[in-house]
Amino acid sequence: MTKIYIPYGSVEGQTSQIAEYMAELLRAHGHQAETADLKHSRGTLPDGYDGVIVAASVHMGKHEGHVTDFVKKNRGELERLPSALVSVSLAAHGDEENAEGYVEKFEEETGWRPAHVGLFAGALLYTHYGFIKRHLMKKIAKDKGSLDTDTTRDYVYTEWDGVQRFTEDYLAWLAKPGSQA
Ligand SMILES: Cc1cc2nc3c(=O)[nH]c(=O)nc-3n(C[C@H](O)[C@H](O)[C@H](O)COP(=O)(O)O)c2cc1C
Repeated sequence: MTKIYIPYGSVEGQTSQIAEYMAELLRAHGHQAETADLKHSRGTLPDGYDGVIVAASVHMGKHEGHVTDFVKKNRGELERLPSALVSVSLAAHGDEENAEGYVEKFEEETGWRPAHVGLFAGALLYTHYGFIKRHLMKKIAKDKGSLDTDTTRDYVYTEWDGVQRFTEDYLAWLAKPGSQA
């Protein structure tokens, strides 16, 4: 049995759901998994974990600053342990190049180059946004030619099968000798 730590950043809650889903899957495979919202944590990677999956979402072209800070602060440990990055964005829904660009920027800023990276589509949660955010996101969707502009409902693009595959591939990698990054 291995112990996996899943620190994450999430503004509207989609990455938080993805982190919890991965933790549930890991537990279903007989492992221990703990999520930590970096907004409320001390920012230090606790001892005793065998692997780490860092998850963050993209807003205005960048991942959460507190996730960037966490990675910078704990880079040595992340490089020592088998660790992975999950990046959640709307670009991951059909605009792979931009989604990869966000990760490249994150890697340049933090100096951490994870061996495993998952690009997952997030959500347009119109009913959860305040007035300004709702209209801003509708305009962005419209400008991109998306038909998903009905602000009385939410659009969730996350492909849970893909999240499951990524988590299981990560586990398989973890089980291999010499899987440290
Ligand atoms: C104000 C705002 C700005 C966003 N900016 C981007 C962006 O620059 N690029 C992108 O691909 N997605 C962008 N998104 C989409 C988010 O990445 C997506 O909604 C994701 O599910 C948010 O995850 P979270 O709920 O964990 O914070 C933006 C969303 C909001 C609300």
